[in-house]
Amino acid sequence: MELAVRAAAASCSSYPLFQRARVPRRSPGLPQLPARRVAVAAAIAVDPIQDIKPEQNDVSKTEVFACPVCYEPLIRKGPPGMNLSAIYRSGFKCLKCNKSYTSKDIFLDLTVTSGAKEYSELKPARTELFRSPLVSFLYERGWRQNFNRSGFPGRDEEFQMAQDYFQSVAGGILVDVSCGSGLFARKFATSGAYSSVIALDFSENMLRQCYDYIKQDDTPLNTNLALVRADISRLPFASCSIDAIHAGAAIHCWPSPSNAVAEISRVLRPGGIFVGTTFLSSPTNSGPFSAGALRPLRQIVGPVNSSYNFFTEGELEDLCKSCGLVNYSSKVQRSFIMFSGQKP
Ligand SMILES: C[S@@+](CC[C@H](N)C(=O)[O-])C[C@H]1O[C@@H](n2cnc3c(N)ncnc32)[C@H](O)[C@@H]1O
Repeated sequence: MELAVRAAAASCSSYPLFQRARVPRRSPGLPQLPARRVAVAAAIAVDPIQDIKPEQNDVSKTEVFACPVCYEPLIRKGPPGMNLSAIYRSGFKCLKCNKSYTSKDIFLDLTVTSGAKEYSELKPARTELFRSPLVSFLYERGWRQNFNRSGFPGRDEEFQMAQDYFQSVAGGILVDVSCGSGLFARKFATSGAYSSVIALDFSENMLRQCYDYIKQDDTPLNTNLALVRADISRLPFASCSIDAIHAGAAIHCWPSPSNAVAEISRVLRPGGIFVGTTFLSSPTNSGPFSAGALRPLRQIVGPVNSSYNFFTEGELEDLCKSCGLVNYSSKVQRSFIMFSGQKP
């Protein structure tokens, strides 16, 4: 165990950019930007990415973002800050592979295929399903609430349970991977418990939906909340850079849970915490992803592949351990499980 800790610390020490002091909780005194100003910012946003050069004064290494192709920290040109309007007005570039990244609509697209003109790739149906505008719209309007029938405690209680697991990393950077419409990312951000919250999903429409809720909630746009499109199997962060990762009701949707948890383990800093929830597998799974529950949906969104990856508790623990996470613990309520692992 001690050897593992030393090895992790050694591998992480080559990233001095992220060996920073803990950031205090969000200042309540920050000026608030009205929601409509983002639309204005969008309208006047320039495309600064073309001429990013490292020697320019307003160019800096990003706080957290790394190139999803080569994992080099991205160079940023634009206003600093991990909030929607600053990120929207910034351009990002990898000096190693020369690839540029900009915001699309309201989210920063950090997928490998961002900017591709001809190439497109279909992911498994359990990923593609959530890219649909209809599913994204319905998600927080009844779909998610259905999970309670399988033992999920509901948004407020799940949030509190996750917060309890994250106590030791308060003040750090939290990424809500596969955030969907951002039901938890928004709560993490407004809790003020983290220096930055990154709401990350592969679905463009989920991220748009998240933005709509942010406007409705009147979440201040200078809240340290960023919207990022990325693939869980290729996280756009440098190794050992993230303090906390939350993945609500997501692991059963991922194309390769082992690649995903390995990525989560790679980007967590030593001591960093991963918390996930999912449905436990059972031969008679009657949850909202069962073939029976998805049948009515087929009529409106077309064929739905219900082959989600459900796991037993032993498999989840084994997966976390095989990806190098320690201190596994879990809470179970019928088919619902919240599990956690820590980067040594
Ligand atoms: C059931 S929703 C969970 C949303 C939210 N976290 C919650 O707790 O309700 C699963 C999410 O996983 C996302 N997802 C599926 N495949 C993904 C991938 N390859 N990379 C990132 N996110 C993915 C979907 O877009 C969807 O938003």
